[in-house]
Amino acid sequence: MVTPTTETSAPNRKAEHIALTQKAQVKELGPRSHGLDYEPLFGRHPLNPRQTVEQKLGVTILGKRLKAPIWISSMTGGTPEAQKINQLLARVAGEYGLGMGLGSCRPYLHNPKQYAADFEVRSIMGDEAILFANLGIAQIEELLQDRATEKIESMIHALKADGLIVHLNPLQEWFQPEGDVIKRPALETLQELLEKVKVPVMVKEVGQGMGPRSLKALLEMPLVAIDFAAFGGTNFSYLELLRQGTNELGQEMSHFEDLACVGHDAQSMVKFFRKIQSENGHRDQLSLVIVSGGIGSFLEGYRLTQELKRPAVYAYAKRFLDAASQGETLLRRFVEQEIHGLAVASEFLVASSGGEC
Ligand SMILES: Cc1cc2nc3c(=O)[nH]c(=O)nc-3n(C[C@H](O)[C@H](O)[C@H](O)COP(=O)(O)O)c2cc1C
Repeated sequence: MVTPTTETSAPNRKAEHIALTQKAQVKELGPRSHGLDYEPLFGRHPLNPRQTVEQKLGVTILGKRLKAPIWISSMTGGTPEAQKINQLLARVAGEYGLGMGLGSCRPYLHNPKQYAADFEVRSIMGDEAILFANLGIAQIEELLQDRATEKIESMIHALKADGLIVHLNPLQEWFQPEGDVIKRPALETLQELLEKVKVPVMVKEVGQGMGPRSLKALLEMPLVAIDFAAFGGTNFSYLELLRQGTNELGQEMSHFEDLACVGHDAQSMVKFFRKIQSENGHRDQLSLVIVSGGIGSFLEGYRLTQELKRPAVYAYAKRFLDAASQGETLLRRFVEQEIHGLAVASEFLVASSGGEC
């Protein structure tokens, strides 16, 4: 870390070095740079981390700039606590130029007045920040069936959102006692939606990720972005399983545990993505890929987004929830630490060349 040193602090420093040498053995910690080449010859210390990150890792989507490759994943609104957290996240997203997805806007769709404070965060974020509304595939299916897709466009307009996230969660809905029944394959629902609405659409899972066939099908659609929401972090199927001992048929939910634990982690999804892209010069219309679901640190996010070799950001839900729950100061500190870590990584670490120079 770049901090001013004085001659008088040198003896202390030397003494600390000797005292801490024993603890500073890293053999058991292991290297954390798997997938990244450490190249100490070509970078410099970032004196202005925010500027470095914006220049090197910023992404433009829909004419707006994400100043850091960080996205705040969708989290439900509709409770007083969630409202406070959403407003806090929106403020910090606006301040640091991060993207943000709202949690499922289903309550707002049906009752905008009652839920205005949970979802209307545009004035807090500012016009420059990127904000997406969110609905589940089951609500989209229902709106299509009722020929009411204009409600989606009105909602996006009312929220001043830049687009719509559709979350695919068939397993979560199946496990949820109050869950919706999905009557059509999501592929058909999405295709029809994209024909009917004019707003930019992004698709995500909610913590299982998805396999190569689904990913390829999404890449063939006119979507603005895909968010992995991969397996490895928060898992809503498992969470729903924990909420009930038996289902309405008297079956033990623990019997279905294996089903809650299927899916694909973010690393596997990056591999699928790259393979699909390399096959037959595959072209897609995406402006952005969001790597998310169990991302453990800025370095993992940096590595996975670099591996994609296209405009990409990483996202957290739980880690942002934890940071925001501790209040504004600690949330800001968390974001600043992420940005500072990314700035250093961007100077000295590059996606692995596999030993090529
Ligand atoms: C409290 C909470 C509420 C969530 N609500 C939604 C939601 O309404 N819509 C959605 O698409 N995803 C929702 N998610 C899923 C997240 O957006 C994210 O995909 C998932 O948690 C995996 O990311 P993580 O491992 O960083 O937590 C929610 C997650 C959390 C933790």
